Amino acid sequence: MKKTFLFVALAIFSLVGKVHADEGMWLPMFVERLNYVDMEKMGLQLTPEELYSINNSSLKDAIVGLSEGATPRGFFCTGEIVSQNSLMFTNHHCGYGSIQKLSTVEHDYLTDGFWARSFEEELPAEGISASFLVRMEDVTEQIFSVLNDTMSWAERNQAIAAKAAELEAAASEDSKYNPIIKGFFEGNEYYMFVYQVYTDVRLVGTPPSSIGKFGGDTDNWMWPRHTGDFSIFRVYADAEGNPAPYSPENKPLTPKHHLPISLDGVQQNDFTMIWGFPGTTERYLTSYGIDYNVETFYPIIHDIFKLQTDIMDEFMQKDASVNIMYADNKAGLANTWKNFEGQMLMLRKNKVAETKLELENKFSEWVNADPARVEEYGNVLNTLAETYAVLSEVSASVYFPNYVAQTGAIGISGAFTRYVTAAQSKDKEAIAAAEEALKGIDFDVFFAETYKPLEDKMLVEMLKLYYNTFNAEANPNFYNLVEKKYKGDVVALANDILENSNFATPESIKAFIEKPNAKKVEKDPAYIVCNAMVNHLVSGLAPYRAAMQTVDQNSHLFVKGLREFYAETQPEKSLYPDANSSLRMTYGSVQDYQPADAVSYDYVCTANGILEKYVPGDYEFDVPQRLLDLIEAKDFGQYADENGELIVCFLSTNDITGGNSGSPIMNSRGELIGLAFDGNWEAMSGDINFEPRLQRTINVDARYVLFVIDKFAGATNLIEELTIVKSEPATEEVVAE
Ligand code: ARG
Repeated sequence: MKKTFLFVALAIFSLVGKVHADEGMWLPMFVERLNYVDMEKMGLQLTPEELYSINNSSLKDAIVGLSEGATPRGFFCTGEIVSQNSLMFTNHHCGYGSIQKLSTVEHDYLTDGFWARSFEEELPAEGISASFLVRMEDVTEQIFSVLNDTMSWAERNQAIAAKAAELEAAASEDSKYNPIIKGFFEGNEYYMFVYQVYTDVRLVGTPPSSIGKFGGDTDNWMWPRHTGDFSIFRVYADAEGNPAPYSPENKPLTPKHHLPISLDGVQQNDFTMIWGFPGTTERYLTSYGIDYNVETFYPIIHDIFKLQTDIMDEFMQKDASVNIMYADNKAGLANTWKNFEGQMLMLRKNKVAETKLELENKFSEWVNADPARVEEYGNVLNTLAETYAVLSEVSASVYFPNYVAQTGAIGISGAFTRYVTAAQSKDKEAIAAAEEALKGIDFDVFFAETYKPLEDKMLVEMLKLYYNTFNAEANPNFYNLVEKKYKGDVVALANDILENSNFATPESIKAFIEKPNAKKVEKDPAYIVCNAMVNHLVSGLAPYRAAMQTVDQNSHLFVKGLREFYAETQPEKSLYPDANSSLRMTYGSVQDYQPADAVSYDYVCTANGILEKYVPGDYEFDVPQRLLDLIEAKDFGQYADENGELIVCFLSTNDITGGNSGSPIMNSRGELIGLAFDGNWEAMSGDINFEPRLQRTINVDARYVLFVIDKFAGATNLIEELTIVKSEPATEEVVAE
């Protein structure tokens, strides 16, 4: 009898005890209420207070939001503080823009890496800022207090923006802090995040791209991955520890908390936790929104960005200076088009729209069971369906001409519109003012850090893409121009711009501004094309904007209804808000996965894979000789695992997205075990629907990071600064005593 009872009890316990917390980007402020019980069950050994406290130092104080400027509204990446002198780790691809800006053909840190051997050698990363979260608070009530039922959606948004600005100003304490209020659950809740922003950030170290970007865009978004995706910065402050602009007098900031680094490595099922600044997810997107993305929006952006990166690639590989010029721009575009390609594939393959439609059907059933709900939510899904249909019609007419209108001489010619309008009015004062304004524009800026052959090809190819995408009905002016003046040859039009436009080179522009002539502008082929593009764009813009606003309003309504639906039908379910570039926490475990039938992927990869992938001379798969030698000699020092292998990257089930790049992945004691840097191909649909079976975070192992700093670069000055920890081996011997 007793036995049976125990058996039943155990069975129940194992059900309750089976925690699947992987999904969710949680607000740290609610950790105790929503997540702590789960996290403890999964192995966490810290208290809620040690994770997030506004009174005492806590783990959150080691997490850094990376941005540009002193008053950012969001963060492009995450970093973590790892020493008492505010040494900061982030990804190589996060530091990439700074490394590029600091590189020249003579000092090519992108290609060769960089290691400061002393504070004096560290290089100011101009424009980069490091934000620390001081506190966060729920401001929903204050925000909602200024709203009423008679407001239109636009009036409502204006009122919210005004109230948010007022609350932010009050919380800034005379600009000491940078408070940011963000909407959550599609504007159904509002939170304020108060940050302290440090603007003196310096580059301390980076591996060469052949380590930091090993595998390039071919391996990007994929596992197995052998990328040492890390770079090292330091945060500086004035003598009092306050934020200050760059000055040689500044001192390394003494942080409230820094992360110890563990040499223990990972085992399957180990607890993992990631803190950082995920940028955007759309977990509450409807099936209609998904169809729009897959059928319309992603293909447009994908095709434009892919075309642009292919052209950049062609010239970058031929010339080191061109490579430096375009490196960051190209990496961003390539990262996006490959992401969209993966999303198109995997949203279909993982049947995400079907999953959402099922939920929508259940939601509709719930709505229809109650007249009050029908009144409030009865139309929301139909409205969204209709509105996405409108967007599908007009989106191409907004995006394509917009990108063409920004290209080379076409883009520059746009600056002459005001002058032409003034000349047509024959108003002498207006003409003089417009001429003055032209003289005030620094046109050199448009040509700085550009390579003419590349830019010229871009213009030709963008016009070709546009011409092949649209017909005379969409843009009669442009079509007639090509047919009549250039006999149907769009390349002839492009060449006419390159050879004859007044706006094609800095010299021709300067000469033209000396003796401006409105008639000549009107006849300039770049200007004519620019106008045709603007007209096309304007034809789609009003319906596009109106539709976007309707989507906004109805997404707000849908999520409001969905939360009520869940609260009534699944009260035990905690919902988490979409990513919006605010500090989040996600916890899970180290796990392998099966990407396809009969295929199994390990949760770690080793340096042996670097040798397997190595292609001498290849721009993505070449490897520095020194790294080859160390790997071949298995000279890994204390960074080897128990089998003498060097683990390079590992997988975990944490729920992250872009913006989390550089985030610390930590063990149950809050020690750094790696840096998150990517997601995997099979779950590229994951920003819209989390896929527990398939979705993994790709992390670079902390031991590989330290190995590169120590053994590869010999930067022992940095190793000495770190708090490196290793657990005692199991207690068996002690017991035997
Ligand atoms: N996919 C990564 C992310 O979005 C960026 C990786 C950068 N590497 C590259 N080869 N482009 O976080």
